[in-house]
Amino acid sequence: MTAAAGAVTAFAGTNIALVKYWGKRDAALNLPATGSLSLTLDRLGTRTTVHFDGDGGGGAGATDRIVMNGAPADAATTARVTAFLDRVRAHAGSRVGSTARAFVTTENGVPTASGLASSASGFAALAVAATRAAGLELPPDELSVLARLGSGSAARSIFGGFVEMARGQRADGSDAAARPLAGGEGWDVRLVVAVTTVGPKPMGSTAAMEHTARTSPYYAAWLAGVDIDLAAARVAIAARDLPALGVVAERSALRMHAAAMAADPAIIYWNPATLAALACVRALRERGLPVFFTIDAGPHVKALCRAAHADEVAVSLAAVPGVVKTLTAAPGPGARVVEGGGA
Ligand code: DP6
Repeated sequence: MTAAAGAVTAFAGTNIALVKYWGKRDAALNLPATGSLSLTLDRLGTRTTVHFDGDGGGGAGATDRIVMNGAPADAATTARVTAFLDRVRAHAGSRVGSTARAFVTTENGVPTASGLASSASGFAALAVAATRAAGLELPPDELSVLARLGSGSAARSIFGGFVEMARGQRADGSDAAARPLAGGEGWDVRLVVAVTTVGPKPMGSTAAMEHTARTSPYYAAWLAGVDIDLAAARVAIAARDLPALGVVAERSALRMHAAAMAADPAIIYWNPATLAALACVRALRERGLPVFFTIDAGPHVKALCRAAHADEVAVSLAAVPGVVKTLTAAPGPGARVVEGGGA
């Protein structure tokens, strides 16, 4: 399909955190309480097209139009996207009028109801498409800061491969950006996602991390361990030491979930298939396969392994009771314009 005049389409792969982000130092600016570290994937991403109505002809009261996977977005999503676009409009100044409304169409590479559709790839693709459609050419670190304002994990999907997100020190958040980590390029790893039985909709990350910070006695302990994990993960990536990286990834995920489980009331993302998939990963490891798990704010299990072992890992996880299907992804590039905007 050819993009409409002025329309820009961007693609961003999602990313999976190996050292998790779970907590904010400033909710309004969406500043993380700690750094985090992730792997950007080549698939399971979001493709987003943005077109600003250049003459502002929408008139007073006109709203941005957001279509997600072929259907109009709900009110909460529209409000979150509009707040994000308002920042882009403010930044673009006269390039795009403050009354110009946007038409945004976005497609997720995984079924929305699967619980895998991530705000990470969504806001990274939106940051790239919206700025370019508004006539801005931001450097990647500024795109990362912008994407973070939409969703903390999105800051990381601006870059490809292994990425570290900085907590930053400044109150305005201008130094809370991600950067690509040297050393991981070309490392032939895979991430096998075991999609487990879809249960009740889990609590979203934003609300859950806020609830954890407010009520979990383990939150302070969680925060205190992250810098040690970041340092160990950096060393493991530079040395391409998968077992060393895997140990950090597992303990970071388990500690994040432990902090959430200790909240009051508890936040439990796991279902029986989640635990069965963890046991499967550990059993594969006992058989000599270097494979390690991580779990995000949902019941699915993501297994990190070498490319040569990905098929065996996927077959084993697919046989776990309650696992609906598996998806395998490789490291991928950062968010980019794929149509329009001079691409
Ligand atoms: C468990 O980035 O979705 O995936 O900044 O509030 O939008 P907001 O949160 P979000 O949280 C991600 C949580 C996580 C861990 C991670 O990706 O680091």
